[in-house]
Parts: sequence; structure tokens; C-alpha cells
Amino acid sequence: MEKQRLLSGMQSTHPKLHLGNLEGALRNWVKLQDQYQLYCFVADWHCLTTMSKNPAEISYNTRQVAMDYLAAGIDPDKSIIFVQSHVKEHAELYLLLGMVTSLGKLERVPTYKEKKDDLQIENESYGLLGYPVLQAADILLYKPYGVPVGLDQAPHLELSREIGRTFNHLYGEVFPEFKNIIGEVPNMIGLDGQKKMSKSKGNSVNISDTPEETADKIKTAYTDPEKIRKDDPGHPDGCAVFSLHGVYNKENLATVRSECESGARGCVQCKRECTEAVNNAMMEIRERRALLDLPLVEKILDDGAEKARAFAAQTMTEVRNAMGIR
Ligand code: TRP
Ligand code: SF4
Repeated sequence: MEKQRLLSGMQSTHPKLHLGNLEGALRNWVKLQDQYQLYCFVADWHCLTTMSKNPAEISYNTRQVAMDYLAAGIDPDKSIIFVQSHVKEHAELYLLLGMVTSLGKLERVPTYKEKKDDLQIENESYGLLGYPVLQAADILLYKPYGVPVGLDQAPHLELSREIGRTFNHLYGEVFPEFKNIIGEVPNMIGLDGQKKMSKSKGNSVNISDTPEETADKIKTAYTDPEKIRKDDPGHPDGCAVFSLHGVYNKENLATVRSECESGARGCVQCKRECTEAVNNAMMEIRERRALLDLPLVEKILDDGAEKARAFAAQTMTEVRNAMGIR
């Protein structure tokens, strides 16, 4: 029997995915790729919504992100790994879905409002507003059973579903309803103590970091500012190092907490143990990444695009027929 399909992707605005991306999404994809036919892609066109002035970096970043997928354990023998811009059907469906998407709904998307404020874009582009329409096209093209993403993507998925429903209502049932597959996302505080690790804030441990880079980053990470000497009582909640212990050193978490709080543990020792736990957890991923090179990745992405295109082309035939565009 044919496996049910899953579809997911990430933008390549930065060349390095971090541990938040790994634990919040990639691990889940890797787990799901045996049971499902996973389509995972790098959303390079989406980057242009915020990087249209410096597009030169995107293609380099895209290959690096693909390497992070592969290093994390996405297996090209099981899953279809490709680049969005290599499958032109995404653009065609995006155009057509744009015709049935309400402007008001797009203007109310929270990430649109955030990006507008965040980037302080004065003349935000039509493309930025259309971001969720492109995402809907990415998803609906593959008629997936489900879309595994982090919780932050829920509003986008809801809008994608609505766009699919509108299309079906107008032209006939082409797009089956898909499910959100929201993985358990551990809360990983940024190394600077900010709420989240973030690609743009430079406060992350990255998948491609060496053990030494990881050690240096953890050494300078944000800890409880009230814990100055080893035996000062500390507050582990809000400490970036403690949040890493929570993911990579779960079995000792209760001990770390009580020793921090009682003053039995100092931050230097705590960081050393944390570094060891992270580096242990990353060993296999680093070994896999070291075996990759660009020609190999290009080959995997070419194969992936060919397979993705085959499915996407079928969907587009159905879409054109449903709309009577010939
Ligand atoms: N918006 C997603 C992100 O920022 C990336 C993305 C684009 C995506 N198209 C998608 C995710 C389709 C899932 C399905 O990470
Ligand atoms: Fe954070 Fe550990 Fe220091 Fe406590 S002892 S503040 S958990 S680094």
C-alpha cells in the first residue's frame, strides 16, 4: 500500500539551522519518515519576501540547510528532499490561489504584522503579504495527509487549509484537507537569555557548529545574574544553560535544578556538563554532516526535484482542469 504523504519545509534565510530547529521540527520529520512518504523542501523563494535586496546569499544558504536536513537524519532513500524554486509548479499554483484568497485575511496574519514592524519595512512588498499563499501552494500541491511543523506555523496552516477549501468550493474537490502535525517542541531559550533561539539573533548553537564552537558558546551563555559565586543560590528557570540541560541531560535535570538552587553547583561546572551533553547528542549528526559535500547534495536535490515535480505536475493538471484553464 502506498504510504500517506507528509510535506514540510523551512526557509533558508540563514545558512545554519540551530538546535531549536533540530529539536522543534527536524527530529520529528526524521521520526516520521519511516511511516510516511515525507516531502521536505527548502523554501528559497520565501526568503525573497525579506531578502529581495540581497538574494545572492540565498542559494548558498539553501544548500547548507539541505545539508543540515541530511545531517539530522533525513534519508534521501526514504524521503524526497528538494528546493522550492526547482519545482516551478509551486509558482503556478501560488498565482492561481492568489486569485481566490481574500486580501483582508492576509492582512490579519500575525507573522505579516510582526515582520512589517520587526523589519521596519517602509514599503512592504506584495510578496511579503502573499507569503501564506505561497505556503498554501507548497502544501496543497502534494495533497499531504499532514504537515509536521512547529507550533508557530499554526496560523499559516489554518490559512492554507482555508485557501484549499475556497478552491474546492469554487471549482470542485481537488485538495483533500490536511492535518497539522505539531511535534512536542521543547522550550529552548536563546544563549543570550532571550525567549527563543533565533537564526537572526546569533544566540543559537547550530547544527553545523564544531564541539569547540559549542563549548565557547555555552561558556558565554546567559545564566542567572544573581548567581555570582559557586555557592550563591541560583534560579535555573530562565537560565539558557538549564534549558539545554532540559533537552540534552534530562536524566540529571532534577539534580541540576536542586544543586543550582542550593548552591551546591556553580555555573562553570554546570556549563561544562551541559557542553558535554550537547556534544554527545550531536556526535552522530556531525559525523553525517562531515561526509557530505556539495556535489552529493546537488545530486540529492536534483533527484528530489524530479520526484516532487512528477507529483506536482499531476496536481496541476487537475487544478487546470477544475478551473477550465487550458
Ligand atoms: N513558513 C515556514 C517557516 O517559516 C516555511 C514554509 C514554507 C513551510 N512553506 C511551507 C512549512 C510549507 C511547512 C509547509 O518555517
Ligand atoms: Fe544556570 Fe547551571 Fe548556573 Fe544554575 S548553575 S544558573 S542552571 S548555569
